[in-house]
Amino acid sequence: MHMSDRVAAVVPAAGRGERLGGSVPKALRSLAGRSLVQHAVESLTSAALVDQVVVAAPTAELDAFAALLGPGVQVIAGGAERIDSVRAALAVLDETVGVVLVHDAARPLTPPALVDTVASAVLAGAPAVIPVLAVNDTIKQIDDTGRVVRTVPRDVLRAVQTPQGFRRDVLDDAYRLSATLPPEVAITDDAGLVEALGVVVMTVPGAQEAFKVTRPADLVLAEALLAHR
Ligand code: CTP
Ligand code: MG
Repeated sequence: MHMSDRVAAVVPAAGRGERLGGSVPKALRSLAGRSLVQHAVESLTSAALVDQVVVAAPTAELDAFAALLGPGVQVIAGGAERIDSVRAALAVLDETVGVVLVHDAARPLTPPALVDTVASAVLAGAPAVIPVLAVNDTIKQIDDTGRVVRTVPRDVLRAVQTPQGFRRDVLDDAYRLSATLPPEVAITDDAGLVEALGVVVMTVPGAQEAFKVTRPADLVLAEALLAHR
């Protein structure tokens, strides 16, 4: 089967943002006058290769998201976990889409060039592509008493960002498989599901600016970076 070169971006944005705190869902938090989800969607719509954008929003905020994002962006109801939000968005993709990018709403400063780099790599034939950065801190494995078990060699470790890009058939298979995985299998990103299928995942260099807003200091950093642009 020939792969369609149409690219869709799916944006899980239905989280509460417990670690960030605050009274509105994280994706609606303001950064330089616009919501995090608006920034994240702009990274995608500014990329040359993205044809469709679907945002999974908290059920109670569908109208607010639709109003903020405008008619070019589809807003659908997300689910209880990130995986449920992505699954719901995958279900409404255009028939003709052959490549899917999954991108966190919580990464507002992602360069559009990174979006195109990931999409291009999939279009060029890689079934799964993720942006990664070297790890700066030394990483140690500990046991449940807090005692260090070992120091993990840092040179083979990478921190993983989004957008993560996939051939659509591969991501669909991975999400079908995810329904059958036992709950103790901790999958924290979409590529993790694809790895569980045995599919090779390729890496491309990530971007420092594509960091995820997780805690309050991250929002301060994002404000400062924007002010220096
Ligand atoms: N997400 C989602 N649906 C959920 C949970 C998370 O769409 N049920 C989205 C978030 O909106 C976010 C992305 O997944 O854009 C990455 O998740 P994370 O940074 O963990 O955001 P939250 O889950 O909102 O934050 P926290 O874990 O601190 O509550
Ligand atoms: Mg979360």
